[in-house]
Amino acid sequence: MAEAFLNTPPKTEELGAMTAENLRAAFAGESQAAQKYLAFADKARLDGFANVARLFEAVAYAESTHARNHLSVLGGVGSTTDNLKAAFGGETFEIDEMYPAYDAVARMQKNKQAATSIRYALKAEQDHQKIYEATQGIAATGSDIAETAVRVCPICGHTVIGDAPDECPVCGTAAQFFRVF
Ligand code: FE2
Ligand code: FE2
Ligand code: FE2
Repeated sequence: MAEAFLNTPPKTEELGAMTAENLRAAFAGESQAAQKYLAFADKARLDGFANVARLFEAVAYAESTHARNHLSVLGGVGSTTDNLKAAFGGETFEIDEMYPAYDAVARMQKNKQAATSIRYALKAEQDHQKIYEATQGIAATGSDIAETAVRVCPICGHTVIGDAPDECPVCGTAAQFFRVF
């Protein structure tokens, strides 16, 4: 029987300034392509093209591997404690600076759909920040966190540890639709 497959992306190396910039741009582009193809897959399935959907999902996975390889060479993947710290920092920036500014502009421009999309994200980043903060504390002692399920609202991204609320407090989606991890 074959060995279990282990994904081992390329290692960090000293990068020329232009190559580093190129890889950052490629990381963003590949990440966006993957996300776009997943959205296209959902739409294809809704439109009755199950196999087109499957094709989009396969290529999304390929683009994700490109994104991950670029990130790895850029040195963007550290130890789990370092990664938790980086994740917490990213969520904090989005909560304190990015989304409040974006929200103000969207409201000023009376772009309601954009404001909703931004509000969904801002709310969920607050969940993530809290969860990462608690997780960092535990991981710092060398322990893994508890096996408790993590549930995510498929509409707004509201994220909870354990049971889902009967209705999502942010967007009203029923508990049964939350995705379990
Ligand atoms: Fe690609
Ligand atoms: Fe987040
Ligand atoms: Fe929600």
